[in-house]
Amino acid sequence: MIILGIETSCDETALSLLETRQEKDITQYKVLHNAVLSQIKLHEQYGGVFPMMAKREHAKNLVPLLVNVLEKSGLANIKKEPADAQKIAEITALLSAKEKELLAALLNEPALHNKPHVDTIAVTNGPGLEPALWVGVNFAKALSILWNIPAIPVNHMEGHIVASLLDPKSDLKHLSLKPLALPALALLISGGHTELVLINDIRDYSILGATRDDAVGEAFDKVARLLGLPYPGGPQISKLAHTERAAHPAPRKIYNLPRPMIHTSNYEFSFSGIKTSVLYTIRDIKEQGKELTDDIKQQIAREFEDAVTEVLIFKTKKAIEASAIQTLIIGGGVIANTYIRSQFEALAKKMNIVLLLPQAHLSTDNALMIALAGALMLQGELPEIHTIQDFKAQGNLSL
Ligand code: KG4
Ligand code: ZN
Repeated sequence: MIILGIETSCDETALSLLETRQEKDITQYKVLHNAVLSQIKLHEQYGGVFPMMAKREHAKNLVPLLVNVLEKSGLANIKKEPADAQKIAEITALLSAKEKELLAALLNEPALHNKPHVDTIAVTNGPGLEPALWVGVNFAKALSILWNIPAIPVNHMEGHIVASLLDPKSDLKHLSLKPLALPALALLISGGHTELVLINDIRDYSILGATRDDAVGEAFDKVARLLGLPYPGGPQISKLAHTERAAHPAPRKIYNLPRPMIHTSNYEFSFSGIKTSVLYTIRDIKEQGKELTDDIKQQIAREFEDAVTEVLIFKTKKAIEASAIQTLIIGGGVIANTYIRSQFEALAKKMNIVLLLPQAHLSTDNALMIALAGALMLQGELPEIHTIQDFKAQGNLSL
């Protein structure tokens, strides 16, 4: 089965083609193509992501990106003649106004008229920025009608969970999944989420706790902005913190930040207080007539990364102990952070549990994880086509 994954929940327009093949009891996966078109350069100048701008960019980029992905994967099925007018009229009658717009764009592209060798579509329908999500969902629906193939909705956070199951030792043509000893715990840390999720089985999740305010990635982005660093802030803070740690292995501790909610008895988090402390720290520095030098920025970045990591580690450790967890999975853009990765590697070793991390390039948003979540949902069976048209984008969808 060949699955087209579509991801437009935030500022990455991503498409992926994943082939699954059943060999005896084992499913083999082959990545035919995985494309991520980042809008970072566009949003960077405004210091964050504007949903309506993200939506416009997704709508502009999806059709050419799909043509490119089909060509690169050798699946393009180019039709030279114009599309069948009667079929188009029939299809158009089934669509909403937004879907019609995307269909019109699809129909302007002869490379997409003929159905390529794609069996089904898996599209992120939440959580995320709702206008951005709708573009992917409408695109999937228009494509599913045009090509007469089913489309299924995928939860973006489930995508982040399954991204770590892909075995990085295998090559992209013959991927298998790592074994998953249950129960497992997933710590999901992204730009929009921070949550601890108990995994009783794949697709059987219960949320132990989540952030009450800012997500970890959001805190990285906001603190970066306070330090005058560009969006997205995670990689920038990480770089500064790394330089500081190399120069001063023992923390200088001139600037101190809180570890919010670290000792509460629940699994909830709060990160907006750290950000406010950074704001006050910077204000105090300026009131003392001092400059916010690179050296000071470095110290604050390191202290911030330490504070966030300590809280994440502490709460995760508690959840592992409480539920006799066998496997720890970490997902979401923040686990691209090398320091946080290393701290969780040390924790897993100390607690003698298996740690599954996504490869660095699959930590941040991508469509391969969406196609894989779709594959695990389908288990080799195609859904019925007539059941597909009724799902919608849901910005606050939970696991
Ligand atoms: O999962 P993701 O790509 O998008 C969402 O689903 O939100 O996560 C994006 C977040 C951003 O807040 C970004 O600053 C953060 O992940 N991030 C990092 C790093 N790389 C990306 N945070 C800390 N360190 C990094 N190296
Ligand atoms: Zn994400």
